[in-house]
Amino acid sequence: MPSTEGLPARRAALQMLDSVLRRGQTLDAAAARVRGLAPADHGLAIAISGEVLRRLPDLDALIDGTTRQRLPDDSKARMVLRLALAQKIGLQTPDHALVATALPLVDGGPRRLVHGVLGTLLRRGMPASDAPHLPPDVEERWRAAWGDEAVEAARRQIVKRPPLDLTFADDAEAQAYAAEHGGISLAPNHVRLESSSVTALAGYGEGRWWVQDLAASVPARAIPAEASQVLDLCAAPGGKTMQLAAAGHQVTSVDSSESRLGRLRENLKRTHLSADLLHADALKWKPTRAFDAILLDAPCSATGTFRRHPEVLYRARPKIVADNAELQGQLLRRAAGWLKAGGTLVYSVCSLEPQEGEAVIEAFLGEQSGFAPAAAAELPQFVQPSGRGWVRILPGLLESGGGLDGFFIARLVRRG
Ligand SMILES: C[S@@+](CC[C@H](N)C(=O)[O-])C[C@H]1O[C@@H](n2cnc3c(N)ncnc32)[C@H](O)[C@@H]1O
Repeated sequence: MPSTEGLPARRAALQMLDSVLRRGQTLDAAAARVRGLAPADHGLAIAISGEVLRRLPDLDALIDGTTRQRLPDDSKARMVLRLALAQKIGLQTPDHALVATALPLVDGGPRRLVHGVLGTLLRRGMPASDAPHLPPDVEERWRAAWGDEAVEAARRQIVKRPPLDLTFADDAEAQAYAAEHGGISLAPNHVRLESSSVTALAGYGEGRWWVQDLAASVPARAIPAEASQVLDLCAAPGGKTMQLAAAGHQVTSVDSSESRLGRLRENLKRTHLSADLLHADALKWKPTRAFDAILLDAPCSATGTFRRHPEVLYRARPKIVADNAELQGQLLRRAAGWLKAGGTLVYSVCSLEPQEGEAVIEAFLGEQSGFAPAAAAELPQFVQPSGRGWVRILPGLLESGGGLDGFFIARLVRRG
């Protein structure tokens, strides 16, 4: 149970949101920095922060429609009001609890103002939108890149609980599991369940499956079955390494983060799969031999994961996206030199920014005449390669079945 007065959770939520919105941290990192709370309060603080981030522009519109003077974006009064309104709309917290936990947060400050705005809005009533606005810059960018439908779908999806996708090492097991547990399989080795606690699910301890959004499973599916030596570059925490190892490839996995490699090591142990792990910066490291196939799942803004991590919409500032694109291009050019003639290079990002996807590949192909895009024949049916041979997964795809993360996947073949 959260502590009775409920204040520590709200204070923690304020702290988490400050870390996310002002310091550009992930919500996970911000939550990890808040210590000493009862687990229920910690969980409540994360839930409140998530609701604020999912509905921020709509919450601000409510606040701005009630105040005579616009409250500064980072003012305590605005943050406390956002917190209270998100709880009302997203978590159905009773009005008396909202007021009782909001006012102490502005003690010695704009208490009357917060009380007044909150009172007015609670009296007026606030219907929960099932398609709240995304941040205006994101809507504008995505509308220009992907059109109105994708933006409308993203607005619907940001407040829907995503399903739980599991990848199995063995397809027959996946199909049996889907039948036994009321799941559906949308691709070989895949089972989709309604969201529930991961570690409580059957088969977790035995390592029969791992959690992986269906979209995130597509890049490894584009690696040709006959490739023997496969390099998984930027591999941790290892969803794709496990897929590749389970498919029978000999996998070398490289990542520059020791802690994330530790998670990859644990994942392999739990699933009884194996790969050679290397802790290295791919901008400096060089392999001693060439590979039949390389999967580069590059670091990116991760805006495709906005359903589970709504803060990505606030972290993906233009400079960050441009810096990512620069790094992605460098990684791609290095990886290209490590491929055997006739080998396959798969590039992917869980980003909905064309700068990190299409533009990176267009620029690469513009300067490297030895590579050509080649659509993978073995991809699941719901994935439609574009005319250029690459795959763009947008919000709206399979929406009625639970949707997918946004992704970009290109498969390039090195001419022989
Ligand atoms: C999108 S994540 C990879 C997810 C992983 N492929 C999976 O399926 O679980 C990107 C990874 O790139 C790693 N990374 C970032 N810069 C790197 C570099 N210069 N060299 C190697 N790895 C890097 C990060 O540590 C991070 O684990």
